[in-house]
Amino acid sequence: AFVVTENCIKCKFTDCVDVCPVDCFHEGPNFLVIDPDECIDCTLCEPECPANAIFSEDEVPEDQQEFIELNATLSKEWPSITEVKAALPDADEWNGKENKKQYLEK
Ligand code: SF4
Ligand code: F3S
Repeated sequence: AFVVTENCIKCKFTDCVDVCPVDCFHEGPNFLVIDPDECIDCTLCEPECPANAIFSEDEVPEDQQEFIELNATLSKEWPSITEVKAALPDADEWNGKENKKQYLEK
């Protein structure tokens, strides 16, 4: 499956949901996740993310490994999102900031 990682936090551009053929994105307050049981590895979402937050599970960076489990668990709790919406306020300023994990709202 593909995995949404830390740099989505506080950005949530949502370009990714537009291209997913199986609607497997789920939305939290300031982060999106992919349901690994629904993702068909089509790869379409990865290049759409302006924050470069999406990776194939086997290419998730070492310091982002915990997001594999976070996508699996939070996708079962959060509602589905299938349509693009406005990014979060200050998304451009937060894009690329380090240590955003502490701001993840569940
Ligand atoms: Fe959806 Fe394809 Fe991305 Fe999986 S890889 S989340 S199926 S767009
Ligand atoms: Fe997040 Fe990138 Fe999608 S910032 S909402 S994974 S386009």
